[in-house]
Amino acid sequence: MAAALALPVHRITRALAADRRLPVVWLSGQGCTGDTESLLRAVDPDVVSLLFDVISLDHHETLMVAAGRASRQALDDAVEAGGYVCVVEGAIPTADGGVHCVVGGETALSLVRRVTAGALFTVAAGSCACDGGIAAAAPNPTRATGVAGAVPNVKNLVRMPGCPVNGVNLVAALVHYLTEDALPPLDSRGRPLFAYQSRIHGNGRCERFDDLRAGRRAKAWGDEIHRTGGCLMDLGCKGPSTYANCYQRNWNEGSWPVGTGSVCVGCTTSGFWDANTPFFKP
Ligand code: SF4
Ligand code: F3S
Repeated sequence: MAAALALPVHRITRALAADRRLPVVWLSGQGCTGDTESLLRAVDPDVVSLLFDVISLDHHETLMVAAGRASRQALDDAVEAGGYVCVVEGAIPTADGGVHCVVGGETALSLVRRVTAGALFTVAAGSCACDGGIAAAAPNPTRATGVAGAVPNVKNLVRMPGCPVNGVNLVAALVHYLTEDALPPLDSRGRPLFAYQSRIHGNGRCERFDDLRAGRRAKAWGDEIHRTGGCLMDLGCKGPSTYANCYQRNWNEGSWPVGTGSVCVGCTTSGFWDANTPFFKP
């Protein structure tokens, strides 16, 4: 994590050893809970250390013990106390007054506006929260959008696209805030540079790049070049236009799409469901 954030290890260690945990209010809109699944698989710190040492997860519909009114009370208490980070997972439907996603009698649209208003900062975790994701794909019947679309005046928004967001990157952004009392450096779209400043395709990044330079480009799924680690460009790989650090962070402490022999579908690209389909065509 220190390497990812370009921060000295001792500063991170000191921040995490301090008796301070960052209150987090996690909201879920239209989504598949993939970003939560991703959070559960974060490493260094893993989710157990994360919950005991780094954050105080004051509200999360999927992970909290409380349900029903008690869950709503936890949310309201956290908002009233202030000083929290709002993490939003999933898209926010705006058609028909937001009625297509209602949690505890309140629309996701109302919830996200109410909770982001008092937050230190807000993290749009995953592509759905960033720009609507799959829910916003054409013809987008619920007029789904991301946090910025639902809350036009939202302050201090950190956008972390991905389908899902990489849990290690998400935790790193929170650890950066705890360590420096400041958000990590962001690009013009609000994405942390440490995770989104480079394209996947390139020397020292994609492990298949040398094969591309050697002219080893797979032409069909399962052909000799595909099976022996060749470049996937002709099978539709969107790595050349995709900004993400999956090649470095990996998933589940294991591999990443291109590493497993699938193409990159460009899941961190804005509007990728419409922009990058069909996924398996160059
Ligand atoms: Fe680029 Fe994709 Fe080929 Fe890797 S597999 S070198 S990201 S086109
Ligand atoms: Fe997404 Fe491509 Fe990474 S599909 S997970 S940005 S390799």
